[in-house]
Amino acid sequence: MIVVPVELGARGYEVLVGAGARHALARALPAGARRVAVVTQAGIGVEVDPGIEHREFLMGDGEESKSLATVEELCRGFARWGLTRGDVVVAVGGGVVTDTAGFAAAVYHRGVPVVHVATTLLGQVDAAIGGKTGVNLAEGKNLVGAFWQPAAVLCDTEVLATLPPRELRSGQGEMAKYRFLGVEDLLELRLDEQVAACVRAKAAVVAADEREGASGRRATLNYGHTLAHALETAGGYGLRHGEAVAVGLVFAAELAARLGRIGPERVAEHRFAVAAYDLPASLPPGVDDAELVRLFARDKKALTGTTFVLDGPRGVEVVPDVPAEAVEAALEAVR
Ligand code: GLY
Repeated sequence: MIVVPVELGARGYEVLVGAGARHALARALPAGARRVAVVTQAGIGVEVDPGIEHREFLMGDGEESKSLATVEELCRGFARWGLTRGDVVVAVGGGVVTDTAGFAAAVYHRGVPVVHVATTLLGQVDAAIGGKTGVNLAEGKNLVGAFWQPAAVLCDTEVLATLPPRELRSGQGEMAKYRFLGVEDLLELRLDEQVAACVRAKAAVVAADEREGASGRRATLNYGHTLAHALETAGGYGLRHGEAVAVGLVFAAELAARLGRIGPERVAEHRFAVAAYDLPASLPPGVDDAELVRLFARDKKALTGTTFVLDGPRGVEVVPDVPAEAVEAALEAVR
């Protein structure tokens, strides 16, 4: 098993990566835990054994279940069962489950410990790590949430074998992102090593900038996400998250090139990274540019003007006040 520490002092924890990591759940629970509320979805099909009294709480599938209504339903279920701060929430699933159950754990009784058992590649390399929890509003993705670090994260690579190929590819969209955040040659590694390399990269960023502060370091994890989130908020156009991130990476490269931050070879590297995973590099038909531009301005990073996370001579960083003409030209380049 590969153990990756997330160095956050008193809030630090370990991420266990490897085949069968889910069987380490009982050992990963906080000392003295009495009971476990297991939050999962009916279709996940990953059994966990916390080794102490537990009860399952099912939530719905899809982004529409990542809502305040689900958080209320979970918290009411916890209250009826009598969950206390001496107990633990265990989230078993992909990003929808870990984000929603993590947020329910953050607010129920003003905070109970949570352990994530990430069952998708996307969850293992991104969503379950780093303590961002939250739900969507009709106005946008992840607009309500809290930083709530888990007590441990288990990334069981064995369960990835059961994922539909498209779901796996969606996770690879997030993996492609890490190439531009300093993780190279991922394709040559074993699957557990690939996951661990991404987790290590994310853990280092989170340790340096836990709450996405002024340094902008954590915001770099959103590389490729400004366009992805806008596409998702506009209805998704049939894209899965990692597919939208893949288009977003190519768009971000085209935008950086138009601002003179990178050259054509680096743009080609973005296109290669996305193609290597057989991910889309252009916008689906029917996308309304004007709507995307409106949604870019609503992005959480946008403190001044339209803000993007872009590659450049100093690496990936937050770039405010990006001119509208460059954005329009970059959208044209991914059409
Ligand atoms: N998914 C981006 C972050 O955790 O900061």
